Amino acid sequence: MNDLNIILTNFTEKFSKINSKDELQNLKSEFFGKNGKITQQFKILGSLDPEKKKEFASSLNRIKSDLMEKIEQKNIEIGNNEINEKLKNEKIDVTLPIRPYQQGKIHPVSQVIDEISSIFSEIGFSVAEGPDVESEYNNFTALNTPEDHPARDMHDTFYLEKNKKILLRTHTSPVQIRTMMNGKPPFKIIVPGRTYRCDSDQTHAPMFHQLEGLHIDKNITMGHLKGCLDYFIKEFFEVKNVKMRFRPSHFPFTEPSAEVDIGYRIEDNKIIIGEGDKWLEILGCGMVHPNVLKNVKVDEKKYQGFAFGIGIDRLAMLKYGINDLRAFFETDYRWLSHFGFDPLDVPTNYRGLSK
Ligand code: PHE
Repeated sequence: MNDLNIILTNFTEKFSKINSKDELQNLKSEFFGKNGKITQQFKILGSLDPEKKKEFASSLNRIKSDLMEKIEQKNIEIGNNEINEKLKNEKIDVTLPIRPYQQGKIHPVSQVIDEISSIFSEIGFSVAEGPDVESEYNNFTALNTPEDHPARDMHDTFYLEKNKKILLRTHTSPVQIRTMMNGKPPFKIIVPGRTYRCDSDQTHAPMFHQLEGLHIDKNITMGHLKGCLDYFIKEFFEVKNVKMRFRPSHFPFTEPSAEVDIGYRIEDNKIIIGEGDKWLEILGCGMVHPNVLKNVKVDEKKYQGFAFGIGIDRLAMLKYGINDLRAFFETDYRWLSHFGFDPLDVPTNYRGLSK
């Protein structure tokens, strides 16, 4: 066997064992590097006589291009294998749960507003909003609460100016005025928002949240009001039965007016909403007073309807077992991570509001 054949056999044997680009690179330099086995053969050429030289050169070149091609092919093959291997190992399992990570929480008040909006949207209410800073006119006068009316004192108003024309709204009812002034009946809205009164103890904060409801159309009655509230309370507290009673009351902007209580009982120190022999006041409501409709230029002979106002914070406390209202607004992150909600867990009527 001449030298070339020995080299070729040697190459073939080593080549068959190659598995990586590194090994391939080493093999390449072993044969074609500066002092490589094939390179050495080229160096011999100069010392041969012309006839032999020609023959040897041509077989040497053929062998070189053969082997180089093999090396190149192997290189591609190894490259492909590496990619396939990588794809196999890096496959993403989308069914795995996410890794736990530090994330923000939804405040119980925001959560409850979302839940309430979702519940009322099911029966055709849309959400309206108004500013926290209101005119005295929208907050009181247009709502049939004249200058000397005792209700103005009851509300412990924060006035922002000496002449008492601008104030922090004491309830969400001025949005009734804004909505009816700027549109045409029928109206069917809820209004969640911040409200303010100079009052502070375990169950009262100077800033709190209310939800206003307003439904005005041609023949809306107290029956509709009752049905609407009954539906809402059951959906919100996620219970089948709720005892509810209307107590006669007074608001300047509704006639007749009522306060609504729901039944509850205490079990293991917890409030269970729905049935039982105790009553809890949760909202004020009534049929919108004709004077209010006149003030917003809605024909009170053709249109009538109901309004209600609910304390949102109170609902959140009841539903989620939170005792102190003031903790709601202390921005204590530990409190929020305990009572707050997962941002991706959006409440819906179908999936369950708070599950
Ligand atoms: N605005 C009243 C309050 O804050 C609640 C209410 C709203 C009563 C609408 C009747 C109708 O106490």
